[in-house]
Amino acid sequence: MCGTGSPFPIRRERAMQLPLSVRPEAGESLQAQIYRQLRQLILDGRLRPGQRIPGTRTLAEALRVSRNTVLLACDRLISEGYLETRPGASTVVSPRLPDAPPEGFAPRAEVRGPSTNPVSRAKVALDVQRERLSASHHPPPAIDFIVGRVDPHSFPLRAWRRHLLRALDDPRAGPSLYPDPAGYRPLREAIAAHLGATRGISTNADRIVITEGIQEAFNLAARLLVRERTPVAIENPCYRGLVSVLRSCGARLLPVPVDESGIEVERLPSGPVGLVCVTPSHQFPTGYTMTLERRLRLLDWAAARGAFIVEDDYDSDFRYDGPPLAALAGLDTREQVIYLGTFSKSLGAGLRIGYLALPRSLATHIVSVKSLLDAGRAPLEQAALSGFLTDGGFERHLRRIRIGYRRRRDCLLQALRDTFDTVEVSGQAGGMHIMWHLPQDFPPATTVEAAALRRGVGVYALGSGVTHSLAPDHYRRHSLVLGYAALSDDAIREGIARLGTLRFDRKVP
Ligand SMILES: Cc1ncc(COP(=O)(O)O)c(C=O)c1O
Repeated sequence: MCGTGSPFPIRRERAMQLPLSVRPEAGESLQAQIYRQLRQLILDGRLRPGQRIPGTRTLAEALRVSRNTVLLACDRLISEGYLETRPGASTVVSPRLPDAPPEGFAPRAEVRGPSTNPVSRAKVALDVQRERLSASHHPPPAIDFIVGRVDPHSFPLRAWRRHLLRALDDPRAGPSLYPDPAGYRPLREAIAAHLGATRGISTNADRIVITEGIQEAFNLAARLLVRERTPVAIENPCYRGLVSVLRSCGARLLPVPVDESGIEVERLPSGPVGLVCVTPSHQFPTGYTMTLERRLRLLDWAAARGAFIVEDDYDSDFRYDGPPLAALAGLDTREQVIYLGTFSKSLGAGLRIGYLALPRSLATHIVSVKSLLDAGRAPLEQAALSGFLTDGGFERHLRRIRIGYRRRRDCLLQALRDTFDTVEVSGQAGGMHIMWHLPQDFPPATTVEAAALRRGVGVYALGSGVTHSLAPDHYRRHSLVLGYAALSDDAIREGIARLGTLRFDRKVP
């Protein structure tokens, strides 16, 4: 230890390497150099209060100085209150550092006033803060119609445990090797087969990249295709997670309105556009399904400009009324659609497994971006998921939870009809949320949201939670988003009953 006493176990000391160095030729004694550098590490917070520091013998060996030199430096730090010895003779950084800066110590520039450094710590933290995704109110209300949350009891725990155990025996999923940055190959094969069978997309494992959910997929695509001022057309309203990523890459966002048939293709910008981002199956958050006619026009529009289309297919596993339309990527014959899928809605957002199905021209580039970012995600859970998909368990699971979610949707619609005279909603044919278009005599949606919150009910106006609206639109004033998948029938009925007791100064329509 610093000071005297028994040494640390050697392995532990080796694990902690301090960035210290001494120069005999410098015009300062070795002891002073060690003292000064250790003190700076403490003041910078790199050695934290209570943290043990390596023993004097280890430090002396590492620095090639006598043990006495280190001892004297440490003794000075102890006497000034930076270090203290503990029973058992270990030496730690003092839990309470001395108040007065010692002689000769100048505080760092950024502590005194605003930094001139463009990426100072404070500046970075503030920018990121603004874009951080937070889905719910804090604290969450008792009955929360929060969007996108799955039924917490629906996770197929028994099957998952079985597949995880099997995956532990799979050498391709083991921890000893760097994983394939594109993802565990059998999972990519299983996803390609699943997309062919359920979404009409003809693809293969070489064009699938596994991601940490769609959120990472947005990032990978943006990092490859978006530069400062790249024009990107997005639906208005839309998902905030997408807007934040695009903004963080410097994109020039071009909001395009949405109607009952999806994005209004005729109102897409006439100038150059690099990307257009859409949610055709269940427009987020209005819930409208893009008609076939619109899909074909959008594909033509993008082909004429050489633009890529990002298709966010976040919740198409749930379709209750009528057959699902083929995905946009399934209609794409010119390889211009980047398809994004996720298991966040079918299994749970905590898994963080999503994927991209890519045009051939982009697949290897996206894999390179992924390997730059994190060298690929850990394969164990991918292997478990792959087993779940290939043995048919996933399809059975989907059939089971679809029944429960449909029942909750029906319960919500019925509760609204029982409580209010006229009820207009959209998005009820699928997914896990609806949009409720408030009666004309209601106050603005944000007023209803605030009043509901006071009754312990969470409903979401645009701009609240993860919904976003970039330009004034009809929905922002008049519509609320209600997720239902995570609530019991009783909670749904109680929540809507509470909304029915809200009293506003209603306008005469
Ligand atoms: C429209 C939309 N896109 C993407 C996502 C992100 O999904 P993931 O959890 O896969 O990142 C969500 C999550 O709620 C969403 O609602």
